Amino acid sequence: MSADLVCGLQWGDEGKGKAVDYISKNYDVVARFNGGDNAGHTVVHQGSTYKFHVIPSGVLRGCLGVIGSGVVLNPSSLEEELRQLSGDEKIVISKRAHLILPSYKLLDQKLESLKGDKVGTTGRGIGPAYAFKAFRFGVRVGDLFQDGLEEKLSEIRRLVESLNVEWIQPDVNHWKEVLAPYVGDDYKVLHEAYLEGRRILFEAAQGVLLDLDFGTYPFVTSSYTFTNGVHAGSGFNAKELGDIIGVSKAYTTRVGNGAFPSEVFGETADHIREQGAEFGTTTGRPRRVGWLDLVALRYAVRISGCNKVFLTKVDVLSGLDKVGLITSYEVDGQRYSDWFDFSQGALELVKPVVEWCDGWGSVLNEGKLNANLLAFMEAVEGAVGAKIQWVSYGPSDHETLCML
Ligand code: IMP
Repeated sequence: MSADLVCGLQWGDEGKGKAVDYISKNYDVVARFNGGDNAGHTVVHQGSTYKFHVIPSGVLRGCLGVIGSGVVLNPSSLEEELRQLSGDEKIVISKRAHLILPSYKLLDQKLESLKGDKVGTTGRGIGPAYAFKAFRFGVRVGDLFQDGLEEKLSEIRRLVESLNVEWIQPDVNHWKEVLAPYVGDDYKVLHEAYLEGRRILFEAAQGVLLDLDFGTYPFVTSSYTFTNGVHAGSGFNAKELGDIIGVSKAYTTRVGNGAFPSEVFGETADHIREQGAEFGTTTGRPRRVGWLDLVALRYAVRISGCNKVFLTKVDVLSGLDKVGLITSYEVDGQRYSDWFDFSQGALELVKPVVEWCDGWGSVLNEGKLNANLLAFMEAVEGAVGAKIQWVSYGPSDHETLCML
């Protein structure tokens, strides 16, 4: 029996879509447990391109896709995703998942406008959906099919209007039609699959540094983005988890605001951004870019329990003379490479200490990894205490090297 997790080790956009697509060949069930349509990735499967936000891409190869209780769901955007599919895919959506109502997007914008330091959200209404859930004013997928829906919506309407935000009535009859074929119980489906010996892969959205509690608060998303979210967001018994596969780029990117110690600017930044096509899948925003930050990566590996790293986009750095690695932070003359406080205030004060590795040209020479790239990877493994098991050097499956 096996149940493993793939999570991002940075601020999202680590290439989890490709990693999950590559790894999910070995699984029968792929499950999401956090976030909503703030996440997004593009998958090329048998010559066709798909854009997914909440549907696990493993459904394309016959996996059962589960959308867990911890996900917040926008049925209109889900409908767009479903349109790309043939209809034969197997998908279960938790009856406990909360719905993102149309007014939540307006509220997301309003909350941003009231903040001095803007979070730079994706504007999808994610924060309000989780907040309404915590207020116990939320509407869950299962509520669409129960009596009392109108009263619930009226209560929410009163709350929304009391915040001077326009109320937009959701088309619940249409939502019911969209969702009805898929509604189920994530907890039950996942436990049964596990007991039957089916292999389950949990797919986290965003990354450790965007976690609501352990990320760079307040510049974070509103959900639990790694191992901590599996149990909370699917009901699956977290003690049954096996491998924790952490995905990291060979450099760092961030969208939205907040401290970013390893950020680079100018020509090098433009080069990495262009080579890596670092523009948001969901919002199209240019991503901020920086060197790989080993202090942050070590933290993410440790807190997530990651035992295998999937390193992505090493090809993007090809051709640079020197590649930077942030090995410690300097604060008030003290150097920290460990146990750093990743809350926002502390992170703003650090001076990153950069060590330079020799760059690499082509990633592979006669089927072998370039020696400079290998030295870079060894430096990463040594610093973070986890093995790099896969190296990805392009979007396709065949541009992946398994190190075992
Ligand atoms: P929200 O999740 O839309 O509330 O946005 C909160 C923060 O998380 C913002 O900085 C977003 O840019 C960031 N964020 C949310 N989803 C993703 C993602 O999938 N990749 C990268 N950043 C994300």
